This record gives sequence, structure tokens and C-alpha cells, in this order.
Amino acid sequence: MDDDIYQERILEHYESPYHRGKCPGCTHCHEDRNPLCGDVVRMELRIVNGGKIEDIYFDGEGCCISQAAASMLTELFDGKTVEDVKNFSAEDMLRYFGPRLTPNRQKCALLPWRVLQAAIYSPCAESHLNGGTTHTLPTQ
Ligand code: FES
Repeated sequence: MDDDIYQERILEHYESPYHRGKCPGCTHCHEDRNPLCGDVVRMELRIVNGGKIEDIYFDGEGCCISQAAASMLTELFDGKTVEDVKNFSAEDMLRYFGPRLTPNRQKCALLPWRVLQAAIYSPCAESHLNGGTTHTLPTQ
């Protein structure tokens, strides 16, 4: 395994994230933080009948690992299904992320995975569906 390639991929996702922002017509969303550091990841999805993830976005504030992992997950599950998310284990996430991580760093990479697993069970509030802006993230 070539760690440099992994590092490059992580940096690319951190610097040019995939679908960072608000999901148009979002139907499901969840936000959580890493209790150790307070870093935040939010996932917004538009899930259509049959469980297809028609669109998926993330947002957040935090370390390179948590934000890059969120971007990677968003890219991976764009166009996939809710079943695919359910079948994607924490181990799968760590393998997909790439480099071996210390236990604390694993928590960083697993934060977006946890948020995504919860988001598929978390329909948005109605006001949000109607175009209201009910969610805010801390700014830097
Ligand atoms: Fe906070 Fe990584 S240091 S999520």
C-alpha cells in the first residue's frame, strides 16, 4: 500500500470537497459532533421512493480526517441506496478511508459514517422541506 497516494486523496477531498453545502429538496438529515473535540459533521440527503439516494450533501467544521471522510462518503453514496448505507459497516468505512489510524483518529473518520447511518432514519422537519432554513453550523 502506498500511503502517499492515500494522503493525496485525503487532501484532495479536504481541499476540494465533494458536495459540501445544502442538499436541494433534502428529505433526511442528521448532524453530530465528536465528543472528544467538538468537531461537527452534518449530512443531508434526498431519498426517493424505493430508498434511492438521489442527492447527498455534507457540511461541517473539523479536522482534515473528519471532513475528508465526509466528502468521500458523500461521493460514494451519491446515487446509491439506503440499503447500501445500512450494509456499509464501520470497518468498511475505515478500509475505504485508507491509512491506518490511531483509535482517536478512527473516531474522526467514523464521525461522518455515524452521521450518515443516523441520517437515513431521520426525516427532516417539515419547515425545512418547505424551504425554511432550520439548520445552522458554527462558523469559523
Ligand atoms: Fe475532531 Fe478529528 S480532531 S473530528
